[in-house]
Amino acid sequence: MDELLTGSCIEFDHVVKNFPTVTALDDVSFKISCGDRYALLGPNGAGKSTTLKILVGLLKPTSGEAKIGGFDPTSTEAKRIFGYLPEDAYPYPTLTVRENIEYIAALRGIKDAYQRAGDLMSQLDLFEYEHSKVVTLSRGNRQKVSVALAIVHNPKIILLDEPLNYLDIPTQSAVIRLLEKLNATYFVSTHIMEIATRLTKNVIILSHGKITWQGSIKELQDLATVDERIEDVVERIMTRGVS
Ligand SMILES: Nc1ncnc2c1ncn2[C@@H]1O[C@H](COP(=O)(O)OP(=O)(O)OP(=O)(O)O)[C@@H](O)[C@H]1O
Ligand SMILES: [Mg+2]
Repeated sequence: MDELLTGSCIEFDHVVKNFPTVTALDDVSFKISCGDRYALLGPNGAGKSTTLKILVGLLKPTSGEAKIGGFDPTSTEAKRIFGYLPEDAYPYPTLTVRENIEYIAALRGIKDAYQRAGDLMSQLDLFEYEHSKVVTLSRGNRQKVSVALAIVHNPKIILLDEPLNYLDIPTQSAVIRLLEKLNATYFVSTHIMEIATRLTKNVIILSHGKITWQGSIKELQDLATVDERIEDVVERIMTRGVS
């Protein structure tokens, strides 16, 4: 799989996605080099989830092309190399936390699924729910299980749609710490700037299906006026563009 670690790991080439009543993505192009870490920011309805769904082959672009690890997103090769956390992730409700992780680990070909499940539960503070069925968990704990399932196979390309949804502040930090340790190409949609600044180096801002700004976190910070927080800069770009 090492050859996948060079060149472009994520590519969007003039992607348009039309739904019956809305153009969700309007001629979007970008490239993410292998090893780079990008945050995808934008207001509700901007097209973030649509972008990630196209990259994992759940939606087909109306026109244009998406590639992941150099492969068509619907190919088996692509499915082997990425890990994806959907925005509405729901693990198997009638399986326990351990069963969910072991099951996906086994499907992903992990040799010691028992051990891997233990490691992930301990890093995500889930051991007390080891034998609880997912349907009985709180939304936050369910989200932690979903994060575990997305990364169980140590994927080289990680696509996360709002991974910190429903998590309390200490748990957000625990999840960020876990993700920080993985050596991968990241593309993470988020409304929480802490995950963007701690986990990624670059930002793409989408508004109404178009890229309105792209650059490094450092460049974003440099756009801040005195006393302006990075959150305020992002909000300014989302609503008024760069000015
Ligand atoms: N399956 C669908 N059918 C019709 N329209 C859709 C569908 N999925 C998304 N859309 C529309 O496409 C646009 C982009 O939606 P998308 O879910 O990608 O936004 P988002 O940036 O992820 O928003 P949020 O921050 O609320 O998650 C919205 O106008 C949405 O209503
Ligand atoms: Mg979304």
